[in-house]
Amino acid sequence: MPWRPRLPSSPLRETQQGPAPQGQPDENDLLHRLYGIGFQELQVPNPQLRLFLSLEREVDLVELERITTAVGWRPRPLRRVRRALRHSLLVVGLWCHDPFLPRLVGFARCIGDGVINATVWDVVIHPAYQGVGLGQGLMAFVVKQLQVMGVEHVTLFADPGVVCFYQHQGWEVEPKNQRCCFWYAC
Ligand SMILES: CC(C)(COP(=O)(O)OP(=O)(O)OC[C@H]1O[C@@H](n2cnc3c(N)ncnc32)[C@H](O)[C@@H]1OP(=O)(O)O)[C@@H](O)C(=O)NCCC(=O)NCCS
Repeated sequence: MPWRPRLPSSPLRETQQGPAPQGQPDENDLLHRLYGIGFQELQVPNPQLRLFLSLEREVDLVELERITTAVGWRPRPLRRVRRALRHSLLVVGLWCHDPFLPRLVGFARCIGDGVINATVWDVVIHPAYQGVGLGQGLMAFVVKQLQVMGVEHVTLFADPGVVCFYQHQGWEVEPKNQRCCFWYAC
């Protein structure tokens, strides 16, 4: 099912974006080292947890598969996933912060030309972290990055069970699938 968001759409909860406030140079350095340029913190109810969205921290494919398996997706050959990520327009990891070893707890990626069209794929939050706004924060971050690039149209294909998740954030359902076509290699 194709989707088109009404841009801009930014229902993100309170967030903090790097650089960190003045007076915390060490932490700011650490966060940049771990998460790269443009990282963003998402607030969660548990004050002991810190969650960061990153465009630059390399995603470990085994960790990613752990999450996708946990939500019931079929495993994919890792070398194909590696190539898919390499050819993606945007790869976003959501990390549970640990100064020594952040853990991947969410993920999304986009493919596209970076100018006119983009399509969002593989939106996932680890089950242990679902239900506290992280999926919504992840999608708002993805849309914001695409807006910054100047992308005009964004589409995604939602499983029937998550249509409301996207509608809730302002995505529009393609009416009656009238303009949607598919081709599968097998
Ligand atoms: C879909 C998914 C990414 C949502 O992540 P999440 O962190 O649990 O979602 P959030 O907590 O940000 O939810 C935001 C809002 O959407 C709603 N929502 C969450 N999942 C939903 C779903 N499956 N169906 C309908 N609404 C949903 C929440 O109730 C919440 O509403 P509220 O703001 O009124 O409380 C997550 O459940 C997931 O990874 N599912 C398995 C993989 C999947 O189906 N991915 C989508 C592929 S198209």
